[in-house]
Order: sequence, then structure tokens, then C-alpha cells
Amino acid sequence: MLNTLTFIVFLLLALPGHSCPHAEHSISYSDVLEITRSNNDRRVTRQISAPAKTAITNVRVFNGEKLLPLSTVFIEGGVIVHYASEAIVVDGNGGVLLSGLIDAHSHPLSVEHLENFASYGVTTAMAMSCFPYDICDSLQNHPGLTDIRFAALGATAPNSTHALLGTGVPLNETITSPSQAADFVARQLEAGATIIKMTAEDVGSPTLSQETMNAIVVAAHARNVRVACHAADYSAVDSALTAQVDQSHHVPKDFPLNSSLISRFLAQKTVSVPTLSIFLQFDIGGRPDGAHGFAVATASARALNAAKVPILAGTDANAIPSPFALAFGSSLHTELELLVQAGLSTVEALRSATVLAARHNLLFDRGVVAPGIRADLLLISGDPIANISATRDIQRVWIGGVEYTAVAGR
Ligand SMILES: *[C@@H]1O[C@H](CO)[C@@H](O)[C@H](O)[C@H]1NC(C)=O
Ligand SMILES: *[C@@H]1O[C@H](CO)[C@@H](O)[C@H](O)[C@H]1NC(C)=O
Ligand SMILES: *[C@@H]1O[C@H](CO)[C@@H](O)[C@H](O)[C@H]1NC(C)=O
Ligand SMILES: *[C@@H]1O[C@H](CO)[C@@H](O)[C@H](O)[C@H]1NC(C)=O
Repeated sequence: MLNTLTFIVFLLLALPGHSCPHAEHSISYSDVLEITRSNNDRRVTRQISAPAKTAITNVRVFNGEKLLPLSTVFIEGGVIVHYASEAIVVDGNGGVLLSGLIDAHSHPLSVEHLENFASYGVTTAMAMSCFPYDICDSLQNHPGLTDIRFAALGATAPNSTHALLGTGVPLNETITSPSQAADFVARQLEAGATIIKMTAEDVGSPTLSQETMNAIVVAAHARNVRVACHAADYSAVDSALTAQVDQSHHVPKDFPLNSSLISRFLAQKTVSVPTLSIFLQFDIGGRPDGAHGFAVATASARALNAAKVPILAGTDANAIPSPFALAFGSSLHTELELLVQAGLSTVEALRSATVLAARHNLLFDRGVVAPGIRADLLLISGDPIANISATRDIQRVWIGGVEYTAVAGR
């Protein structure tokens, strides 16, 4: 029961159609229909200008390693170009231009969440996972707003903690055997998923068998997609690594990762998405089991980084009305600060939310500021290498070359 409570926030929004028996507040199926309809309306009614030819002058570009001397960055047709004539000139005032930030673990449901992301310079977010599929669809194709890539339904075992959240994943959508892996992966890809998600449950919950987890990874890799695995227990991370997942999401809340598992992350090139901000939120919100998950999680992040396991910035931002709700957008800036507190250099933290997040999610059109790359850009005032909190000092944001402006009246 404790486990279930612990994980409500982690995955409840993967199942927005179901009310949760353990939470006082929940999102009903009719809420979901309403959200979907409003997302679709927004797609039609929000007036988005075409990407303009733009020259951003007087900026120091973060090139993934350091700040370059003052220069001008040009945008044309939604991408960064070497030069654009007759461009609108935007004075960067000596600020720093970053590649738009990427949240590697979030649960957006509505266009309002995309607006939140965008206003904080989070220009891409991985939705880890969205179901029913209508919700995933309704978050696509909103030019000028945050680009959502998603795992559709996450793979879960019948009667597992995650399958039982709310009224549950329909039994026929749960996975019981390795023989179902290929069809499961195919269904998610058909629904538009760009990454496959599965869940290694906590001790005490039924979970996918090791053979099934292995088969899901094999099936996904056969389709050239990566696999992200929820693993928030020491033993769950062990199973995820045995299955050769590409991304291990969250870190254990019971025991910190040590050399036994970290050497395996390195050997098989699995990356970590620690989501420290949700562990902090649990501690602030009052964890039902009274444990101090944040301290344990931070210890793992510190050890992973010291061993040079690639770390991606992710938050688990979600909108469940509970003490564990976590804001979209601002939480990624918190995550960067927490990663720095856990020992990452400021440059490593910036890379975790830009170039590394793009590379490990196979988003090769973004993540750096360079000609030919999507014009997803964040202009800030201070120096984030001197102080990571400077990422919060936002002047302007562009998404696919369109400058983000808040919608009046929101
Ligand atoms: C789920 O658990 C219940 C009891 O907790 C049991 O009656 C049922 O058979 C289980 N279903 C599956 C599919 O394992
Ligand atoms: C599960 O059942 C529902 C309702 O009958 C159906 O729409 C869905 O396609 C089924 N899923 C699978 C994987 O067969
Ligand atoms: C790593 O931690 C686990 C869980 O606490 C423990 O069982 C194992 O012995 C530790 N390994 C090392 C090398 O310390
Ligand atoms: C970084 O900037 C924040 C916000 O301005 C400030 O509170 C904090 O003390 C600074 N940290 C360092 C190490 O200078």
C-alpha cells in the first residue's frame, strides 16, 4: 500500500482516464475527454505566426562546453542558419543563448501544460507515458509550443502497482508473456510513440518477468527505438539493467546505487534520468512511509555522475491535484539546481537538459545551437556556468523559430 502511494505521482498521469482509489483527488475519464477536446480546439484557434527571419545579436552562445564570444545567431524557416538577410533584429543585450531545454520525464496532459513548459524555455518534453492514446494525439502539432514526444502506454504486469492505479490498465493491455512483446511495441509505435516505456515495479508488487522485460527491449531495438524503464528500487534497477534498457528512470528510494550496478550502467551504456525534483517534492509533501527518498536519490545521482554515467534532466512534472503535483517548466530549472547540488558541474547540468537529452532520445535535429538545427532557443540574462540558477532569468524563448509569447487572458 505504501508502495502504491509512493508511485501514484510517478505514473498516475500515465493513466488519466482512471480514478485512483488511493488519492482523494483524481482525474476522471470525463475530465480526460474534456482536456482532449480543449487541446484539439486550441490547435485550431491559437494564432501562431510563421517562423520569422530573425537575427539575435549580442549573445554569447553556449556551445555545449563553454560560452562563445559575443556573436549574432540567425534563424530562417524555423532553423538556425549561417546568415539571413532582411531579418528582424533582436538585441540579446549581452545575454546567453542556450539550446531550448528538454525535460526527459514528464506527464503533460493539456495545452496549458505546453504553455507552462514554453514559458520556462522547455522546448521539448518526453511524456513518459500517455494513455488513452487520444491525449497523446491532442498534444501533437501545436506549432510554436513545446514539442511533445511520448511513450504511449507503458508496459505493466496484471495486478501490478501501476496496472492497478485508478481503475487500472485494461487487463487485455497488460503484459504477461515475452511472446506479447513485439505486438505491444508495434501498438505503441502505431500510436505515435517514439520511445517504449516499461515498469520494473517495487518489491512487493507483481511485475513484468525478467524474460518479458528482456523481450520488450529486444522488440523495441528491432524497431530502432529506445526503451525507458521506471525503476525506483535497487532491485528494480538491477532488473532494468539485466534487460539492457537504454534509460533507467528515477533512482532507487531504498538504497543508493553503488559500484555493483553503476559498473553495469557503464558497461552497457545505459543512461540515468534521476528525477531528483520529484523525490524532493515527495519529501516536502510528506512521504507516506516517512523515508527520506531525496537524500538517497541524491546519493545515487552523485555516484552515477562521479562514474561518468550520462545523466539526463527529467522531472516527473505532473498535474495530479495532490501534495506531489510538480509544475511543468519551472521544475526543470529546479532539477538543474538539484543536479548541481548532487555534484554535476554547471556545464554537465546544462548538457543533461540539452545535447545529452537530445542525443539519447534520438532527437538529432535539436539540442545544440548550430546551423541546420531547429531554432529552439532560450535567451537568458546571467551566466549559467557561473551560477546554474541563471537559467531562470529568461528574456525570450523561440520554439521552431517562433518566438513564444504568452496568450493574452490566460
Ligand atoms: C489479481 O489479484 C486478485 C486478488 O488480489 C486475484 O483474485 C486475481 O486473480 C489477480 N488477477 C490476475 C490477472 O493475476
Ligand atoms: C482491449 O480491449 C479493448 C476493448 O475491447 C480494445 O479496444 C483494445 O483494442 C484491446 N486491446 C488489445 C491489445 O487487444
Ligand atoms: C550495493 O548495494 C546493495 C544494496 O544495498 C548491496 O546489496 C551490495 O552488496 C552493495 N555492493 C557493493 C559493492 O557495495
Ligand atoms: C545563484 O543565484 C541565485 C539566484 O540569484 C542565488 O540565490 C544563489 O545564492 C547563487 N548561488 C551562488 C553559488 O552564487
